Formats: sequence, structure tokens, C-alpha cells
Amino acid sequence: MTPSIVFSLLSLLLVSTCGYVLPLEEGFISGVISDKGLEYAKELLVEKGIGSIEMLQLPEIENSAQVPFVGNAKVVLSDITIKDVQVNSSSVKIGESGVVLVVSGATANLSMRWRYSCSTWLIPIGISDSGNASVKVTGMQVGLTVNLRNQEGSLKLTLLDYGCYVRDLSIKLEGGASWLYQLLVDAFEGNIASAVEDGISEKVKEGMVNLDNLLQSLPKQISLDKTSALNVSFVGNPVLSNSSIAMAINGLFTGKNEVSVPQGYEKGLKISSACGGLPKMIKVSIHEDVFNSASLVYYNCNSSCCSCAQADKMQLIVDELPDQAILNTAEWRFIVPQLYKRYPNDDMQLNISVSSPPVIQVTYQDIDATIFVDITIDVLEDGEVIPVACISVEISASCAVEIVGNNIGSRFRLQKFSTYLKWSKIGKLHMYLIQSLTSSVLKTFILPYLNFKLKRGLPLPIINGFGFQNANILYTQPWIAVCSDVSFIGDYYIGQQSGYVS
Ligand SMILES: *[C@@H]1O[C@H](CO)[C@@H](O)[C@H](O)[C@H]1NC(C)=O
Ligand SMILES: *[C@@H]1O[C@H](CO)[C@@H](O)[C@H](O)[C@H]1NC(C)=O
Ligand SMILES: *[C@@H]1O[C@H](CO)[C@@H](O)[C@H](O)[C@H]1NC(C)=O
Ligand SMILES: *[C@@H]1O[C@H](CO)[C@@H](O)[C@H](O)[C@H]1NC(C)=O
Ligand SMILES: *[C@@H]1O[C@H](CO)[C@@H](O)[C@H](O)[C@H]1NC(C)=O
Ligand SMILES: *[C@@H]1O[C@H](CO)[C@@H](O)[C@H](O)[C@H]1NC(C)=O
Ligand SMILES: *[C@@H]1O[C@H](CO)[C@@H](O)[C@H](O)[C@H]1NC(C)=O
Repeated sequence: MTPSIVFSLLSLLLVSTCGYVLPLEEGFISGVISDKGLEYAKELLVEKGIGSIEMLQLPEIENSAQVPFVGNAKVVLSDITIKDVQVNSSSVKIGESGVVLVVSGATANLSMRWRYSCSTWLIPIGISDSGNASVKVTGMQVGLTVNLRNQEGSLKLTLLDYGCYVRDLSIKLEGGASWLYQLLVDAFEGNIASAVEDGISEKVKEGMVNLDNLLQSLPKQISLDKTSALNVSFVGNPVLSNSSIAMAINGLFTGKNEVSVPQGYEKGLKISSACGGLPKMIKVSIHEDVFNSASLVYYNCNSSCCSCAQADKMQLIVDELPDQAILNTAEWRFIVPQLYKRYPNDDMQLNISVSSPPVIQVTYQDIDATIFVDITIDVLEDGEVIPVACISVEISASCAVEIVGNNIGSRFRLQKFSTYLKWSKIGKLHMYLIQSLTSSVLKTFILPYLNFKLKRGLPLPIINGFGFQNANILYTQPWIAVCSDVSFIGDYYIGQQSGYVS
């Protein structure tokens, strides 16, 4: 069976519509797969399972028997191929020991070649013949039970039990003698049934081993850019309930070259699996600390102690404004005479830097961000940058979140801002001047810049090949949750490199 399918079943983070609370410790991103999600995953799994069984070649079967008037017949069945598998019903249940998947009432056609040779003391010259036969297998059952545990931050899948049972089969001989037909029915029925059972059981086991390998090979960290990575290590064991599977990943941002971002764990975080009554396949809940950890990583990137990409620094130099005149001391002649007196007719620039890590809070309506920015006014004189004043700004912004592809994206909207003069070498600046300069810079640069940075969004941990569909966003302080259906959009085969979408 294709592992990515089972993986979706097991690791798409998840939900139930009945809305109980799951105790998931220490995970800042958690997921619940609801009964609907399990059902969908099961359908995919069965479909892929059929795909892996169809055209399966079973080993040759050889048997010999004493046939009246014919003598000792040695019969070989070869090229035994499973074809046209139909599944009548299937179910997935979460039991005490793990996830149980059962397929029942399946049918399959087998095609095969037969040949025999025989000799008797009456007719010492051997006779032989060959031809085709088909077998219809009915009432076939396939079942498996798997369990999931956390093994050093990865998910370990254990196949606890599996098997295949063939209830009935009928043989149709093309050509051949009637004694041969009787022999096949008498002597081979059991062999054919066993061959089918063994062949399919083997495939189930193989699929689960591959799936386990895939789970083990999933990254524990997703690199987001040159500066940060998302810790996607699993935390704790998956929680199996009657109709859903919940699991949690660490979910925090870490700096690329840092050992670890200081993180204050809130023990025993509880997340709800409810989706506001909507029947969705999965629910992914993200704690506001995920965003705050990102804020910390990018903020620290500003300081020289930690290596980070220039492009990721929370810093911006502005030397062009819509009202360009403002960036020349001449324009300030009457407003700030001191400035003009000391630096007559010099160009200026604004050095905007974030002065403390932005604080992100998830409320019941949206996400609120408080961003502290210093705008340093520099005068450019003879190739020298001379800071002359610094304005501190506290920006309150809200952002609504949307799902774009498999990313969670957002756009900041300015709510309000407040300013004060942090320091000045050019005397007191007029409040009106500070306000209008700040307002202009905010609207023209800071917010567009932040929104540009946010455009990329945060990749939701979902497996390659799956996409979100009809996603709804729920805000439940301090969690933001994505309730969504998923659809399988790509085909990923056993052994193929798979991972998270980034
Ligand atoms: C399978 O067997 C049934 C009954 O013999 C037949 O109707 C059907 O066409 C067969 N399918 C294939 C693919 O051979
Ligand atoms: C499918 O299962 C139902 C009940 O489980 C049964 O009534 C029906 O005959 C089955 N169909 C086939 C084709 O086996
Ligand atoms: C037996 O089946 C094979 C293909 O599986 C076909 O090439 C061959 O012609 C068939 N032989 C008879 C005698 O029907
Ligand atoms: C699970 O099912 C059992 C019996 O069906 C029931 O007693 C129990 O309350 C259910 N638990 C949850 C969490 O729904
Ligand atoms: C990632 O998260 C796991 C589980 O919480 C933790 O043990 C590990 O130290 C974290 N890795 C980094 C680099 O922070
Ligand atoms: C980075 O932020 C710190 C505040 O912790 C500030 O003192 C420093 O000047 C900033 N560095 C740069 C390069 O902007
Ligand atoms: C911008 O200001 C920061 C301090 O706020 C300083 O560290 C940095 O060197 C300045 N950058 C430029 C290009 O002036």
C-alpha cells in the first residue's frame, strides 16, 4: 500500500465534530484527524492497496496426484496473476490497541496457466497438455491493526496484526480434460487460496514497512529561509480516541545557527477538536507562541551575535518618499531650524529598525500584532551617515489569516500607532511633524514591507501530495485553527522521497 496514504490517515493533524478536549503536552501545533478524515484516508488507502495487489504475480504452485486411468499427474500452475479486485465494504476503527482497518467481501479474478505431464505403467510415453484457467475469489477479507508511537520525535508505526482470508473460490478451466478440472478443485483449491492469502498479506506488511520508513524519514525540522527553521518534531504520543487521532508537533521557530530559542513551555496545553459544528477532515491548531517564536528568531537576527541572512533582518533604509522634499534638510528649514543650520541642504534617510520582538496575540476575532519600531533620521553629509534624531513608534495592527495553497498567510492592517521622540541632537521636534512623518512611512513602507515578508506565509505541516480544501479559520484565543478537508492531489509512490511542503 502506498505509504503516503496511510500517512495521511495517521499524521494529518486532526478533529472530531463532537468537540472534546485533547490533552496534548508541549506541542504548539497540533492536529486532529476526524472520523471523516479517517474515512477519506481509508478510501484512499483501499484504492491504493487495490492498485498494489492488482497484477500481483503469485508463485508457481505444483502438485501431483494419482488420477484413475491417467496415472500420476504432475500439474503446475504458473503466471498466477491477481486481476480486477473489487471491494464491497471497508471500515476503519480506532480500537484499544490502535487503528484497525478491515476490508470485507472483496472479490478478485485470477488468471493463470496450467500444464501437466503424466505417465502410467499402461502408457509409458508421457502425455502432456497446457492451457489457461481463471479463478474467481469471493468473500475475501483483509485486515490490519497499526499503532503509532513517538520515537525520538518521529512517528513509529508498528504493524500489530494483519491478515487476509479467502472464503471461497471457483475455478474455470479453458480447455483441459475433466479429470484435470476435478484435480484442480480437489487438490489445488486450498493451495490457490493460501497463495492469494500469503501474497496479499505480504503486500500489506510490505506497505506498512514502507510507511514506517516514510514516517521515520520525515524531517524533524523544515527550513524556511536562510534564517529560520520550523521544529516539526513530534511531541508525545498520538492520542487515539473513539473516532479521531490527535497528535502534536513542537511547532516553534528556531534560528538556523542557534542552539535553541528560549521557549517557555506551557505544560499541559489543551486543544479542542471542535470545528464549530462543521464536519471537516482535519483540524490544525497553532498556538500564538508559534508566531512569537518566529518574531523572536527574526528579531534576534538583527543582533550581530547570531548569523542570519541580510534579507531577513528587521531593518529598512528609506531614502525615497512620495514627498521627496521631506528627505532634504532644506524642507525642514523653518520647522527644525537647528537641523538646517548644522546641515544645510543635505539629503536625509530614514533607518527603520524593529526595536523589540513584535508581540503576536491570537484573539477571538483575529490576530493582533504589536510592533515596536525605531525610525532614526540620518543626515547624509560628505558620504557620512549622521543620525540626528530617533522616533519610537508602537504600531498596533490586526491581521486576518487566510489559507493560500497549503500555507497560512496573512495581511497586516494598521489599527493605530503612537509615537514619541526617543532622542534628538537637533532639539525638540514638533509632534505634528513626527506624526505625519511616521504616518507616511508606515503607510508607504513599513506595512507594505511587512506584508511582503508575510506573503510567503507559514507552511502548514501537511504531507506532499495533499492539499487543503474548503478551509475555515477559527480564532480561539490563544489558538488559531484551520479546519479543512484535504484532497489527494499528487501521486507519491512507495520509496519516493516525500516530506513537507515548504
Ligand atoms: C472477473 O470475473 C467475472 C466473472 O467471471 C467476469 O464477469 C469479469 O469480467 C472478470 N473480470 C476480469 C477483469 O476478467
Ligand atoms: C456486499 O455486502 C452486502 C452486505 O454487506 C451484501 O448484501 C452484498 O451481497 C455484497 N455484494 C457483493 C457483490 O458481494
Ligand atoms: C492463455 O492466456 C495467454 C495470455 O495470458 C494468451 O496469450 C493465450 O493465447 C491463452 N491461451 C489459450 C489457449 O487461450
Ligand atoms: C468511546 O466509546 C465508548 C463506548 O462506545 C464510550 O463509552 C466512550 O464515552 C467514548 N469516548 C469518547 C471520548 O467519545
Ligand atoms: C524540537 O522539538 C523537540 C520536541 O519538543 C525538542 O526536543 C528539540 O530540542 C527541538 N529542537 C530544537 C532545535 O529546538
Ligand atoms: C538590533 O536590536 C538591538 C536591540 O536588542 C539594538 O540594540 C541593535 O542596535 C540592533 N542592531 C541592528 C544592527 O539594527
Ligand atoms: C540603522 O540603525 C541601527 C540602530 O538602530 C544601526 O545599528 C544600523 O547600523 C543603522 N544602519 C544604517 C545603515 O545606518
